[in-house]
Amino acid sequence: MSESKNPAPSRRDFLKASALAAGAAMGTFPVVNVLAQETSRKFKVALIGCGGRGNGALGNHIEAAQWLNEKLGWKLEIVPVATGDWFQGRAKDAGKRYKVPEEKCFGGGDCYKKVLEQDPDIVLMAQPPVFRPAHFEACIKAGKHVFTEKPVGVDPPGIRRFIKAGEEAKQKGLCVAAGTQRRHEQGYNRRALEIKDGVVGKVVAGRVAWNMGKIFTNTPINPKGPDDLCGPWQIWVEMSGDHIVEQHVHNLDIANWYIGDHPVSAGAFGFRARRVAGNMYDFFSGDVEYPGGVYVHSMCRQIGDCWDWVGEQFTYAKPEAGERKVTSKDPYEEPGYHPNAYVGEHAHLLYAIVKGQELNEAKNVAWSTATAILIRESAYTGKRITWNEMFEDPNGKFYNLQLKPSAEDFETGNVTLLKDGDIRIPGV
Ligand SMILES: NC(=O)c1ccc[n+]([C@@H]2O[C@H](COP(=O)([O-])OP(=O)(O)OC[C@H]3O[C@@H](n4cnc5c(N)ncnc54)[C@H](O)[C@@H]3O)[C@@H](O)[C@H]2O)c1
Repeated sequence: MSESKNPAPSRRDFLKASALAAGAAMGTFPVVNVLAQETSRKFKVALIGCGGRGNGALGNHIEAAQWLNEKLGWKLEIVPVATGDWFQGRAKDAGKRYKVPEEKCFGGGDCYKKVLEQDPDIVLMAQPPVFRPAHFEACIKAGKHVFTEKPVGVDPPGIRRFIKAGEEAKQKGLCVAAGTQRRHEQGYNRRALEIKDGVVGKVVAGRVAWNMGKIFTNTPINPKGPDDLCGPWQIWVEMSGDHIVEQHVHNLDIANWYIGDHPVSAGAFGFRARRVAGNMYDFFSGDVEYPGGVYVHSMCRQIGDCWDWVGEQFTYAKPEAGERKVTSKDPYEEPGYHPNAYVGEHAHLLYAIVKGQELNEAKNVAWSTATAILIRESAYTGKRITWNEMFEDPNGKFYNLQLKPSAEDFETGNVTLLKDGDIRIPGV
């Protein structure tokens, strides 16, 4: 889309083409960012999904640039150029807050296409998870760097689509950062380096949890149209993936990261006791098997007045040494860690773009989302499910499990409405 607006190749385009050719010839990371090391830069930024997190993410992005400017003496300028939301009013509200001209604030199912036509350099995505694979694919095809909130899909075809677009981003030298913000916290990174360097042994077992009270509406919606799915999207499995995908993904991400792989299979329980709105479960408990006979207990619950715990604990093959001797380089040594990881993830994204470094978190966040989908479907069906039959084997029973309505259905207007209380019954 951006190309058609600039028919005559600019100096920037010429340099980019040269860099591409050079990269390809050397067989290295294909795009050496043309403007790498150019630390006085203006970035045009667009936002898709203008709710709480979207507004927050754009603010974090601007703060991240200021932080890099102060810390490293850079002169980055963030210019918000477009906003998009299913509800145009929300796009306009965000536009007002971030000084985007009203005519660049778009609504509707195709708002992301109009946002991309404004030729941003970076796109921030905080729309409901069902839309993420399609919107991400469009961003990468259009050659944009992306910050994507988690989770990045709700079903296996969506996960594969996201991973494929992530691979394309790599080939094009585009940076992708994800809202799995623990990956941008110093404490979590330190432990990852300790595992890598053998300061502690490999993970042999673990438990991860997001147990808390109810956080979304529990008044039945009785949907009359797509607005009733796109507004309170959190309570619909087809929009959010259920709370195991939407929220517990953060803890599962740590398990995958520290174990260094995705699971082999999951056997899980779950059900709904107190919710009356939407079609999610209240709780899940999963036995998650990783390669090499490593088992992790995954738990998540969103009902009040119960035991709450959010965190990750692991048993290591070798107990923690008294003295820490990490020798590997900290991935974020130069820019450092912002005390607020929500800002840090944007600082690391901007840093990588400016330095021409590879930063691509697409596969990590897709695998973590997929892990949550695996456990969810095991609980919904009452079956133990393998990763292979869900994500890899085209003949696998769950490989083509596509939730409806899909992202495309919202664009074509062919939206099947959902029903409060219409939940999956294990074993049936
Ligand atoms: N990393 C974190 O800690 C964290 C925290 C909160 C939310 N999130 C994630 O951020 C995302 C947004 O959450 P939120 O809390 O901002 O929700 P929200 O409901 O406040 O915002 C979502 C916005 O997306 C809009 N939307 C709906 N359909 C759309 C479409 N087709 N195209 C564009 N926009 C559309 C909605 O109208 C709404 O304004 C979710 O994926 C959520 O999981 C992450």
